[in-house]
Amino acid sequence: KILILDFGSQYTQLIARRIREARVYCEIHPCTVDFNKIEEFEPKGIILSGGPGSVYAEDSPQVDERIFDMGVPVLGICYGMQIICKHFGGVVSRSAEREYGRSELHINNDTDLFRGVSSEDKITVWMSHGDKLDSMPENFSVIGYTKNAPIAAMKHISRPFYAIQFHPEVVHTPKGSEIFRNFVVDICGCKQIWTSGNFIHTEIDKIREIVGDKRVLCALSGGVDSSVVAVLLHEAIGSNLTCVFVDNGLLRKGEADDVVKTFRDSFSINLVHVDARKRFLNVLKGVTDPEEKRKKIGNTFIEVFEEEAVKHGPFEFLAQGTLYPDVIESVSFKGPSATIKTHHNVGGLPERMNFSLIEPLRELFKDEVRKVGLELGIPEKMIMRHPFPGPGLAIRILGEVTEDRLAILRLADAIAINEIKGAGLYNEIWQAFSVLLPVQSVGVMGDNRTYENVLAFRAVSSVDGMTADWSRIPYEVLGSISNRIINEVQGINRVVYDISSKPPATIEWE
Ligand code: XMP
Repeated sequence: KILILDFGSQYTQLIARRIREARVYCEIHPCTVDFNKIEEFEPKGIILSGGPGSVYAEDSPQVDERIFDMGVPVLGICYGMQIICKHFGGVVSRSAEREYGRSELHINNDTDLFRGVSSEDKITVWMSHGDKLDSMPENFSVIGYTKNAPIAAMKHISRPFYAIQFHPEVVHTPKGSEIFRNFVVDICGCKQIWTSGNFIHTEIDKIREIVGDKRVLCALSGGVDSSVVAVLLHEAIGSNLTCVFVDNGLLRKGEADDVVKTFRDSFSINLVHVDARKRFLNVLKGVTDPEEKRKKIGNTFIEVFEEEAVKHGPFEFLAQGTLYPDVIESVSFKGPSATIKTHHNVGGLPERMNFSLIEPLRELFKDEVRKVGLELGIPEKMIMRHPFPGPGLAIRILGEVTEDRLAILRLADAIAINEIKGAGLYNEIWQAFSVLLPVQSVGVMGDNRTYENVLAFRAVSSVDGMTADWSRIPYEVLGSISNRIINEVQGINRVVYDISSKPPATIEWE
Protein backbone atom coordinates (compact mmCIF):
# COMPACT_ATOMS: atom_id res chain seq x y z
CA LYS A 1 0.00 0.00 0.00
CA ILE A 2 0.94 3.60 -0.67
CA LEU A 3 0.99 6.50 1.77
CA ILE A 4 0.10 9.96 0.49
CA LEU A 5 1.22 12.84 2.69
CA ASP A 6 -0.99 15.87 2.19
CA PHE A 7 0.43 19.38 2.17
CA GLY A 8 -2.94 20.99 1.52
CA SER A 9 -3.32 20.71 -2.24
CA GLN A 10 -6.81 20.80 -3.68
CA TYR A 11 -5.74 17.84 -5.83
CA THR A 12 -4.64 15.42 -3.09
CA GLN A 13 -7.83 13.35 -3.32
CA LEU A 14 -7.24 12.93 -7.03
CA ILE A 15 -3.83 11.37 -6.35
CA ALA A 16 -5.55 8.75 -4.22
CA ARG A 17 -8.13 8.12 -6.91
CA ARG A 18 -5.53 7.60 -9.63
CA ILE A 19 -3.70 5.09 -7.46
CA ARG A 20 -6.89 3.24 -6.55
CA GLU A 21 -7.67 3.10 -10.28
CA ALA A 22 -4.39 1.25 -10.67
CA ARG A 23 -5.97 -1.20 -8.17
CA VAL A 24 -3.44 -0.38 -5.47
CA TYR A 25 -4.59 0.54 -1.97
CA CYS A 26 -3.54 3.93 -0.61
CA GLU A 27 -4.38 6.35 2.18
CA ILE A 28 -4.02 10.10 2.63
CA HIS A 29 -2.62 11.47 5.86
CA PRO A 30 -1.71 15.04 6.78
CA CYS A 31 1.99 15.88 6.35
CA THR A 32 2.15 16.49 10.10
CA VAL A 33 1.26 12.88 10.97
CA ASP A 34 3.44 11.26 13.63
CA PHE A 35 6.43 9.35 12.27
CA ASN A 36 5.44 6.32 14.37
CA LYS A 37 2.16 6.20 12.50
CA ILE A 38 3.98 6.30 9.17
CA GLU A 39 6.13 3.37 10.27
CA GLU A 40 3.09 1.46 11.50
CA PHE A 41 1.39 1.97 8.14
CA GLU A 42 4.31 0.14 6.47
CA PRO A 43 3.99 1.90 3.11
CA LYS A 44 5.67 0.41 0.07
CA GLY A 45 5.99 3.94 -1.27
CA ILE A 46 5.30 7.52 -0.24
CA ILE A 47 3.88 10.36 -2.29
CA LEU A 48 4.28 13.98 -1.16
CA SER A 49 1.37 16.04 -2.49
CA GLY A 50 1.33 19.57 -3.78
CA GLY A 51 0.33 22.43 -1.55
CA PRO A 52 -0.30 26.15 -1.58
CA GLY A 53 2.81 27.01 0.46
CA SER A 54 6.40 27.76 -0.39
CA VAL A 55 9.09 25.71 1.40
CA TYR A 56 10.99 28.78 2.47
CA ALA A 57 8.01 30.66 3.85
CA GLU A 58 7.70 30.80 7.60
CA ASP A 59 5.33 28.17 9.00
CA SER A 60 5.38 26.32 5.70
CA PRO A 61 4.30 22.71 6.17
CA GLN A 62 7.19 20.29 6.59
CA VAL A 63 7.50 16.56 6.83
CA ASP A 64 9.45 14.31 9.17
CA GLU A 65 12.64 13.81 7.17
CA ARG A 66 13.12 10.29 8.49
CA ILE A 67 10.80 9.21 5.65
CA PHE A 68 13.86 9.39 3.40
CA ASP A 69 15.61 6.73 5.50
CA MET A 70 12.81 4.16 5.44
CA GLY A 71 14.14 2.48 2.33
CA VAL A 72 10.94 3.05 0.35
CA PRO A 73 10.53 5.06 -2.85
CA VAL A 74 9.33 8.66 -2.54
CA LEU A 75 7.61 10.74 -5.22
CA GLY A 76 7.23 14.47 -4.68
CA ILE A 77 4.65 16.41 -6.68
CA CYS A 78 4.91 20.20 -7.01
CA TYR A 79 5.29 21.37 -3.38
CA GLY A 80 6.42 17.80 -2.62
CA MET A 81 9.19 18.34 -5.15
CA GLN A 82 10.33 21.40 -3.26
CA ILE A 83 10.43 19.37 -0.04
CA ILE A 84 12.67 16.81 -1.70
CA CYS A 85 14.79 19.53 -3.25
CA LYS A 86 15.31 21.27 0.06
CA HIS A 87 16.10 18.04 1.89
CA PHE A 88 18.81 17.15 -0.60
CA GLY A 89 20.29 20.65 -0.76
CA GLY A 90 18.87 22.16 -3.94
CA VAL A 91 17.65 25.72 -4.28
CA VAL A 92 14.04 26.75 -4.77
CA SER A 93 13.11 30.29 -5.66
CA ARG A 94 9.97 32.24 -6.30
CA SER A 95 9.65 32.51 -10.04
CA ALA A 96 8.68 35.82 -11.53
CA GLU A 97 5.90 34.27 -13.56
CA ARG A 98 3.51 31.75 -12.20
CA GLU A 99 3.27 28.83 -14.55
CA TYR A 100 -0.30 27.69 -14.78
CA GLY A 101 -1.94 25.47 -17.35
CA ARG A 102 -0.97 23.01 -20.04
CA SER A 103 2.64 22.56 -20.95
CA GLU A 104 4.78 20.26 -23.11
CA LEU A 105 7.05 18.09 -21.01
CA HIS A 106 10.10 16.60 -22.73
CA ILE A 107 10.78 13.31 -21.03
CA ASN A 108 13.55 10.82 -20.74
CA ASN A 109 11.79 7.63 -21.87
CA ASP A 110 14.44 5.39 -20.34
CA THR A 111 13.57 6.43 -16.82
CA ASP A 112 11.46 3.92 -14.94
CA LEU A 113 8.98 6.67 -13.98
CA PHE A 114 8.22 7.51 -17.63
CA ARG A 115 8.81 4.12 -19.26
CA GLY A 116 6.13 3.25 -21.82
CA VAL A 117 4.17 6.39 -21.04
CA SER A 118 4.42 7.77 -24.55
CA SER A 119 5.80 6.65 -27.89
CA GLU A 120 7.19 10.14 -28.33
CA ASP A 121 9.66 11.87 -26.07
CA LYS A 122 7.16 14.45 -24.92
CA ILE A 123 3.79 14.52 -23.16
CA THR A 124 1.22 17.15 -22.21
CA VAL A 125 1.19 17.98 -18.53
CA TRP A 126 -0.63 20.36 -16.21
CA MET A 127 1.51 22.87 -14.34
CA SER A 128 0.35 24.96 -11.41
CA HIS A 129 3.04 26.55 -9.31
CA GLY A 130 4.68 29.78 -8.30
CA ASP A 131 8.06 28.45 -7.16
CA LYS A 132 10.67 26.73 -9.26
CA LEU A 133 13.90 24.86 -8.85
CA ASP A 134 16.99 26.96 -9.51
CA SER A 135 19.63 24.42 -8.85
CA MET A 136 19.46 20.69 -8.57
CA PRO A 137 20.09 18.93 -5.32
CA GLU A 138 23.18 16.77 -5.24
CA ASN A 139 23.01 13.37 -6.91
CA PHE A 140 19.84 14.13 -8.84
CA SER A 141 19.49 14.19 -12.59
CA VAL A 142 16.92 15.84 -14.82
CA ILE A 143 14.43 13.44 -16.40
CA GLY A 144 12.01 16.01 -17.80
CA TYR A 145 11.92 19.68 -18.75
CA THR A 146 9.50 22.23 -20.22
CA LYS A 147 10.11 25.54 -21.94
CA ASN A 148 9.82 27.44 -18.67
CA ALA A 149 11.03 24.86 -16.21
CA PRO A 150 14.46 23.37 -16.97
CA ILE A 151 14.00 20.98 -14.05
CA ALA A 152 10.39 19.83 -14.36
CA ALA A 153 11.15 16.24 -13.34
CA MET A 154 14.15 14.75 -11.59
CA LYS A 155 15.37 11.50 -10.13
CA HIS A 156 18.06 10.53 -7.63
CA ILE A 157 20.91 8.75 -9.40
CA SER A 158 21.08 5.78 -7.05
CA ARG A 159 18.11 5.88 -4.67
CA PRO A 160 14.37 5.66 -5.53
CA PHE A 161 13.52 9.32 -5.06
CA TYR A 162 11.54 11.15 -7.75
CA ALA A 163 10.19 14.65 -7.99
CA ILE A 164 7.95 16.31 -10.55
CA GLN A 165 6.80 19.87 -10.92
CA PHE A 166 3.57 19.07 -12.81
CA HIS A 167 0.36 17.43 -11.63
CA PRO A 168 -0.08 13.91 -13.01
CA GLU A 169 -3.27 13.49 -10.94
CA VAL A 170 -5.45 15.92 -12.93
CA VAL A 171 -7.21 15.00 -16.18
CA HIS A 172 -5.24 17.67 -18.04
CA THR A 173 -2.21 15.39 -17.74
CA PRO A 174 -3.60 12.64 -19.99
CA LYS A 175 -0.76 10.21 -19.28
CA GLY A 176 -0.87 10.80 -15.54
CA SER A 177 -2.39 7.42 -14.72
CA GLU A 178 0.48 5.63 -16.49
CA ILE A 179 3.02 7.65 -14.52
CA PHE A 180 1.33 6.68 -11.25
CA ARG A 181 1.13 3.06 -12.36
CA ASN A 182 4.85 3.05 -13.09
CA PHE A 183 5.56 4.47 -9.67
CA VAL A 184 3.30 2.29 -7.54
CA VAL A 185 3.64 -0.98 -9.46
CA ASP A 186 7.09 -1.00 -11.08
CA ILE A 187 9.01 1.22 -8.67
CA CYS A 188 7.28 0.47 -5.35
CA GLY A 189 6.38 -3.12 -6.22
CA CYS A 190 2.73 -2.94 -5.12
CA LYS A 191 0.43 -5.73 -6.28
CA GLN A 192 -2.70 -4.69 -8.20
CA ILE A 193 -5.20 -6.49 -6.00
CA TRP A 194 -7.53 -3.74 -4.82
CA THR A 195 -10.87 -4.78 -6.42
CA SER A 196 -14.50 -4.58 -5.33
CA GLY A 197 -14.74 -8.38 -5.07
CA ASN A 198 -11.74 -8.52 -2.74
CA PHE A 199 -13.09 -5.62 -0.77
CA ILE A 200 -16.43 -7.35 -0.13
CA HIS A 201 -14.72 -10.56 1.01
CA THR A 202 -12.33 -8.96 3.46
CA GLU A 203 -14.91 -6.48 4.71
CA ILE A 204 -17.45 -9.21 5.49
CA ASP A 205 -14.80 -11.07 7.50
CA LYS A 206 -13.88 -7.88 9.33
CA ILE A 207 -17.50 -7.06 10.17
CA ARG A 208 -18.13 -10.59 11.49
CA GLU A 209 -15.08 -10.37 13.68
CA ILE A 210 -16.00 -6.98 15.13
CA VAL A 211 -19.72 -7.59 15.56
CA GLY A 212 -19.77 -11.24 16.62
CA ASP A 213 -23.37 -12.04 17.56
CA LYS A 214 -24.25 -8.52 18.69
CA ARG A 215 -26.92 -6.38 17.02
CA VAL A 216 -26.41 -3.56 14.54
CA LEU A 217 -28.70 -0.66 13.66
CA CYS A 218 -28.51 1.09 10.30
CA ALA A 219 -30.30 4.16 8.97
CA LEU A 220 -31.33 3.30 5.43
CA SER A 221 -32.28 6.19 3.17
CA GLY A 222 -32.30 4.38 -0.15
CA GLY A 223 -29.33 6.42 -1.30
CA VAL A 224 -26.28 4.64 -2.70
CA ASP A 225 -24.12 4.73 0.42
CA SER A 226 -26.60 3.54 3.01
CA SER A 227 -27.94 0.90 0.60
CA VAL A 228 -24.50 -0.58 0.12
CA VAL A 229 -23.80 -0.50 3.86
CA ALA A 230 -27.09 -2.27 4.57
CA VAL A 231 -26.58 -5.07 2.04
CA LEU A 232 -22.94 -5.56 3.00
CA LEU A 233 -23.85 -5.87 6.68
CA HIS A 234 -26.76 -8.13 5.88
CA GLU A 235 -24.40 -10.45 3.98
CA ALA A 236 -22.11 -10.46 6.99
CA ILE A 237 -24.51 -10.78 9.93
CA GLY A 238 -27.98 -11.52 8.48
CA SER A 239 -30.83 -11.01 10.92
CA ASN A 240 -28.66 -9.28 13.53
CA LEU A 241 -28.98 -6.21 11.33
CA THR A 242 -32.00 -3.93 11.64
CA CYS A 243 -32.48 -1.10 9.18
CA VAL A 244 -34.65 1.90 9.92
CA PHE A 245 -36.08 3.68 6.91
CA VAL A 246 -37.69 7.01 7.82
CA ASP A 247 -40.13 8.21 5.18
CA ASN A 248 -40.04 11.96 5.75
CA GLY A 249 -42.44 12.66 2.90
CA LEU A 250 -39.72 14.63 1.13
CA LEU A 251 -38.68 11.84 -1.21
CA ARG A 252 -39.04 11.56 -4.96
CA LYS A 253 -41.97 9.81 -6.62
CA GLY A 254 -42.06 6.08 -5.91
CA GLU A 255 -38.89 6.18 -3.85
CA ALA A 256 -40.33 4.98 -0.55
CA ASP A 257 -42.00 1.98 -2.23
CA ASP A 258 -38.78 1.12 -4.03
CA VAL A 259 -36.83 1.06 -0.78
CA VAL A 260 -39.29 -1.26 0.92
CA LYS A 261 -39.58 -3.54 -2.09
CA THR A 262 -35.87 -3.80 -2.70
CA PHE A 263 -34.55 -4.22 0.81
CA ARG A 264 -37.40 -6.01 2.61
CA ASP A 265 -38.78 -8.10 -0.24
CA SER A 266 -35.73 -8.86 -2.39
CA PHE A 267 -32.91 -8.85 0.14
CA SER A 268 -35.01 -10.01 3.16
CA ILE A 269 -33.42 -7.38 5.36
CA ASN A 270 -35.13 -6.60 8.72
CA LEU A 271 -36.60 -3.27 7.71
CA VAL A 272 -38.49 -0.91 9.96
CA HIS A 273 -40.50 1.42 7.73
CA VAL A 274 -41.46 4.56 9.64
CA ASP A 275 -44.14 6.70 8.05
CA ALA A 276 -43.21 10.11 9.48
CA ARG A 277 -44.60 12.20 6.63
CA LYS A 278 -47.11 14.10 8.76
CA ARG A 279 -44.58 14.80 11.48
CA PHE A 280 -42.08 16.36 9.10
CA LEU A 281 -44.75 18.45 7.39
CA ASN A 282 -45.88 19.76 10.76
CA VAL A 283 -42.37 20.72 11.75
CA LEU A 284 -41.88 22.51 8.44
CA LYS A 285 -45.08 24.53 8.69
CA GLY A 286 -44.35 28.20 8.06
CA VAL A 287 -40.60 27.63 7.62
CA THR A 288 -39.05 29.35 4.61
CA ASP A 289 -35.38 29.82 5.51
CA PRO A 290 -33.18 27.12 3.92
CA GLU A 291 -30.89 26.63 6.91
CA GLU A 292 -33.85 26.47 9.26
CA LYS A 293 -35.41 23.80 7.03
CA ARG A 294 -32.18 21.78 7.18
CA LYS A 295 -31.96 22.14 10.97
CA LYS A 296 -35.58 21.16 11.57
CA ILE A 297 -35.41 18.19 9.22
CA GLY A 298 -32.10 17.03 10.72
CA ASN A 299 -33.37 17.27 14.29
CA THR A 300 -36.67 15.59 13.53
CA PHE A 301 -34.84 12.77 11.80
CA ILE A 302 -32.70 12.23 14.89
CA GLU A 303 -35.77 12.24 17.16
CA VAL A 304 -37.61 9.69 15.02
CA PHE A 305 -34.54 7.55 14.65
CA GLU A 306 -33.85 7.55 18.39
CA GLU A 307 -37.43 6.52 19.17
CA GLU A 308 -37.17 3.60 16.75
CA ALA A 309 -33.78 2.60 18.15
CA VAL A 310 -35.30 2.35 21.61
CA LYS A 311 -38.37 0.50 20.33
CA HIS A 312 -36.40 -2.13 18.46
CA GLY A 313 -33.22 -2.18 20.54
CA PRO A 314 -30.96 -2.63 22.27
CA PHE A 315 -28.23 -2.30 19.66
CA GLU A 316 -24.49 -2.27 20.28
CA PHE A 317 -23.49 -0.88 16.92
CA LEU A 318 -24.57 1.81 14.51
CA ALA A 319 -23.62 1.37 10.86
CA GLN A 320 -22.93 4.50 8.80
CA GLY A 321 -22.13 5.11 5.16
CA THR A 322 -19.17 7.41 5.75
CA LEU A 323 -17.02 7.59 2.62
CA TYR A 324 -13.34 8.27 2.20
CA PRO A 325 -13.79 11.89 1.05
CA ASP A 326 -15.62 12.59 4.36
CA VAL A 327 -12.73 11.03 6.26
CA ILE A 328 -10.12 12.99 4.34
CA GLU A 329 -12.12 16.16 4.84
CA SER A 330 -11.71 15.76 8.58
CA VAL A 331 -8.02 14.73 8.65
CA SER A 332 -6.59 16.78 5.81
CA PHE A 333 -4.17 19.59 6.17
CA LYS A 334 -6.43 22.58 5.59
CA GLY A 335 -7.38 25.95 6.90
CA PRO A 336 -10.95 26.72 7.87
CA SER A 337 -13.33 27.30 4.99
CA ALA A 338 -16.60 29.18 4.96
CA THR A 339 -19.85 27.34 5.58
CA ILE A 340 -22.01 27.80 2.52
CA LYS A 341 -24.62 25.22 3.43
CA THR A 342 -24.78 22.80 6.32
CA HIS A 343 -25.05 19.35 4.82
CA HIS A 344 -26.80 17.62 7.65
CA ASN A 345 -26.07 14.00 6.84
CA VAL A 346 -22.85 14.08 8.85
CA GLY A 347 -22.97 14.67 12.58
CA GLY A 348 -25.17 14.55 15.63
CA LEU A 349 -26.26 10.98 15.79
CA PRO A 350 -23.45 8.88 17.22
CA GLU A 351 -22.39 11.07 20.17
CA ARG A 352 -25.86 11.41 21.59
CA MET A 353 -26.60 7.73 21.31
CA ASN A 354 -24.38 5.23 22.95
CA PHE A 355 -23.21 3.23 19.95
CA SER A 356 -19.98 1.95 18.60
CA LEU A 357 -19.67 2.95 14.97
CA ILE A 358 -19.23 0.64 12.02
CA GLU A 359 -18.25 2.41 8.84
CA PRO A 360 -17.45 -0.25 6.25
CA LEU A 361 -17.11 2.27 3.38
CA ARG A 362 -14.65 4.56 5.16
CA GLU A 363 -11.91 3.66 2.72
CA LEU A 364 -13.89 3.99 -0.51
CA PHE A 365 -14.55 6.66 -3.07
CA LYS A 366 -18.05 7.01 -4.51
CA ASP A 367 -17.27 5.22 -7.76
CA GLU A 368 -15.82 2.33 -5.77
CA VAL A 369 -18.97 2.21 -3.62
CA ARG A 370 -21.05 1.96 -6.79
CA LYS A 371 -18.95 -0.96 -8.04
CA VAL A 372 -19.33 -2.72 -4.71
CA GLY A 373 -23.10 -2.08 -4.79
CA LEU A 374 -23.50 -3.60 -8.25
CA GLU A 375 -21.36 -6.56 -7.24
CA LEU A 376 -23.65 -7.09 -4.23
CA GLY A 377 -26.64 -7.26 -6.58
CA ILE A 378 -28.32 -3.98 -5.69
CA PRO A 379 -30.40 -2.87 -8.71
CA GLU A 380 -28.56 -0.59 -11.10
CA LYS A 381 -31.46 1.86 -10.90
CA MET A 382 -30.62 2.54 -7.26
CA ILE A 383 -26.86 2.44 -7.58
CA MET A 384 -26.61 4.81 -10.54
CA ARG A 385 -29.19 7.24 -9.20
CA HIS A 386 -28.24 10.92 -9.07
CA PRO A 387 -27.22 12.33 -5.67
CA PHE A 388 -30.17 13.50 -3.60
CA PRO A 389 -29.83 15.82 -0.61
CA GLY A 390 -30.78 14.64 2.89
CA PRO A 391 -33.45 17.37 3.30
CA GLY A 392 -34.89 16.13 0.02
CA LEU A 393 -37.57 18.04 -1.84
CA ALA A 394 -37.86 20.51 1.05
CA ILE A 395 -34.87 22.45 -0.26
CA ARG A 396 -36.25 22.24 -3.81
CA ILE A 397 -39.45 23.98 -2.82
CA LEU A 398 -38.49 27.59 -2.33
CA GLY A 399 -40.63 29.06 0.39
CA GLU A 400 -42.96 27.02 2.57
CA VAL A 401 -43.21 23.26 2.10
CA THR A 402 -46.79 22.07 1.88
CA GLU A 403 -48.39 18.80 0.87
CA ASP A 404 -49.80 20.37 -2.31
CA ARG A 405 -46.49 21.85 -3.39
CA LEU A 406 -44.75 18.56 -2.70
CA ALA A 407 -47.24 16.75 -4.92
CA ILE A 408 -46.71 19.25 -7.75
CA LEU A 409 -42.92 19.07 -7.54
CA ARG A 410 -42.87 15.29 -7.24
CA LEU A 411 -44.92 14.78 -10.37
CA ALA A 412 -43.05 17.41 -12.41
CA ASP A 413 -39.69 16.01 -11.38
CA ALA A 414 -40.68 12.47 -12.30
CA ILE A 415 -41.73 13.63 -15.77
CA ALA A 416 -38.50 15.56 -16.32
CA ILE A 417 -36.31 12.65 -15.22
CA ASN A 418 -38.33 10.28 -17.37
CA GLU A 419 -37.62 12.45 -20.42
CA ILE A 420 -33.92 12.68 -19.55
CA LYS A 421 -33.75 8.90 -19.28
CA GLY A 422 -35.69 8.47 -22.51
CA ALA A 423 -33.16 10.66 -24.29
CA GLY A 424 -30.33 8.48 -22.95
CA LEU A 425 -28.81 11.39 -21.03
CA TYR A 426 -29.30 10.27 -17.43
CA ASN A 427 -25.93 8.62 -16.89
CA GLU A 428 -23.98 11.50 -18.44
CA ILE A 429 -25.54 13.98 -16.05
CA TRP A 430 -24.27 14.34 -12.48
CA GLN A 431 -27.58 15.59 -11.12
CA ALA A 432 -30.88 16.59 -12.76
CA PHE A 433 -33.86 17.84 -10.80
CA SER A 434 -36.73 20.28 -10.62
CA VAL A 435 -37.21 23.23 -8.31
CA LEU A 436 -40.58 24.74 -7.48
CA LEU A 437 -40.32 28.52 -7.30
CA PRO A 438 -42.35 30.79 -5.04
CA VAL A 439 -43.31 32.76 -8.09
CA GLN A 440 -46.46 32.79 -10.14
CA SER A 441 -46.71 33.92 -13.70
CA VAL A 442 -49.48 34.61 -16.17
CA GLY A 443 -50.27 32.14 -18.89
CA VAL A 444 -53.01 31.24 -21.27
CA MET A 445 -54.54 27.80 -21.57
CA GLY A 446 -57.28 27.37 -24.10
CA ASP A 447 -59.21 30.61 -23.87
CA ASN A 448 -58.45 31.19 -20.23
CA ARG A 449 -55.92 33.23 -18.37
CA THR A 450 -53.88 31.22 -15.86
CA TYR A 451 -51.84 32.48 -12.96
CA GLU A 452 -49.73 29.59 -11.75
CA ASN A 453 -46.37 28.30 -10.50
CA VAL A 454 -43.04 28.51 -12.28
CA LEU A 455 -40.85 25.41 -12.25
CA ALA A 456 -37.10 25.53 -12.78
CA PHE A 457 -35.33 22.53 -14.24
CA ARG A 458 -31.64 22.07 -13.48
CA ALA A 459 -29.11 19.59 -14.83
CA VAL A 460 -25.39 19.78 -14.17
CA SER A 461 -22.22 17.93 -15.01
CA SER A 462 -19.67 17.55 -12.24
CA VAL A 463 -17.00 15.18 -10.99
CA ASP A 464 -17.49 15.56 -7.27
CA GLY A 465 -20.19 18.17 -6.69
CA MET A 466 -17.61 20.74 -5.65
CA THR A 467 -17.77 22.52 -8.97
CA ALA A 468 -20.37 22.05 -11.68
CA ASP A 469 -21.39 23.26 -15.10
CA TRP A 470 -24.92 23.32 -16.49
CA SER A 471 -25.61 20.52 -18.96
CA ARG A 472 -25.99 21.36 -22.60
CA ILE A 473 -29.21 19.40 -23.03
CA PRO A 474 -30.57 19.40 -26.60
CA TYR A 475 -33.40 21.90 -27.16
CA GLU A 476 -35.76 19.11 -28.25
CA VAL A 477 -35.37 17.35 -24.91
CA LEU A 478 -35.84 20.59 -22.99
CA GLY A 479 -38.87 21.24 -25.18
CA SER A 480 -40.54 17.95 -24.39
CA ILE A 481 -39.79 18.31 -20.67
CA SER A 482 -41.49 21.70 -20.69
CA ASN A 483 -44.44 20.57 -22.81
CA ARG A 484 -45.17 17.50 -20.80
CA ILE A 485 -44.89 19.23 -17.44
CA ILE A 486 -47.15 22.12 -18.40
CA ASN A 487 -49.70 19.75 -19.93
CA GLU A 488 -49.64 17.07 -17.27
CA VAL A 489 -49.02 18.88 -14.00
CA GLN A 490 -51.86 20.99 -12.75
CA GLY A 491 -50.50 24.12 -11.13
CA ILE A 492 -47.52 24.76 -13.41
CA ASN A 493 -47.80 27.00 -16.46
CA ARG A 494 -44.15 27.88 -17.07
CA VAL A 495 -40.86 25.95 -17.08
CA VAL A 496 -37.41 27.58 -17.12
CA TYR A 497 -33.97 26.00 -17.48
CA ASP A 498 -31.21 26.99 -15.06
CA ILE A 499 -27.97 27.89 -16.86
CA SER A 500 -25.78 28.84 -13.92
CA SER A 501 -22.55 27.08 -13.10
CA LYS A 502 -21.06 26.42 -9.67
CA PRO A 503 -19.40 28.61 -8.55
CA PRO A 504 -20.81 31.20 -8.32
CA ALA A 505 -24.21 29.45 -8.06
CA THR A 506 -24.58 26.22 -6.10
CA ILE A 507 -26.13 23.02 -7.41
CA GLU A 508 -29.23 23.14 -5.23
CA TRP A 509 -31.21 26.38 -5.10
CA GLU A 510 -31.28 26.50 -1.31
P1 XMP B 1 -24.55 22.46 -3.46
O1 XMP B 1 -25.99 22.88 -3.55
O2 XMP B 1 -23.91 22.84 -2.15
O3 XMP B 1 -24.61 20.88 -3.50
O4 XMP B 1 -23.76 22.89 -4.65
C1 XMP B 1 -23.52 20.02 -3.63
C2 XMP B 1 -24.04 18.60 -3.48
O5 XMP B 1 -24.53 18.40 -2.15
C3 XMP B 1 -25.91 18.08 -2.16
N1 XMP B 1 -26.53 18.78 -1.02
C4 XMP B 1 -26.87 18.18 0.14
N2 XMP B 1 -26.74 16.91 0.54
N3 XMP B 1 -27.73 17.47 2.61
C5 XMP B 1 -27.20 16.56 1.77
O6 XMP B 1 -27.13 15.40 2.16
C6 XMP B 1 -27.88 18.78 2.28
O7 XMP B 1 -28.37 19.59 3.08
C7 XMP B 1 -27.43 19.15 0.97
N4 XMP B 1 -27.40 20.32 0.29
C8 XMP B 1 -26.85 20.07 -0.93
C9 XMP B 1 -26.41 18.55 -3.50
O8 XMP B 1 -27.56 17.80 -3.89
C10 XMP B 1 -25.22 18.32 -4.38
O9 XMP B 1 -25.13 16.97 -4.79
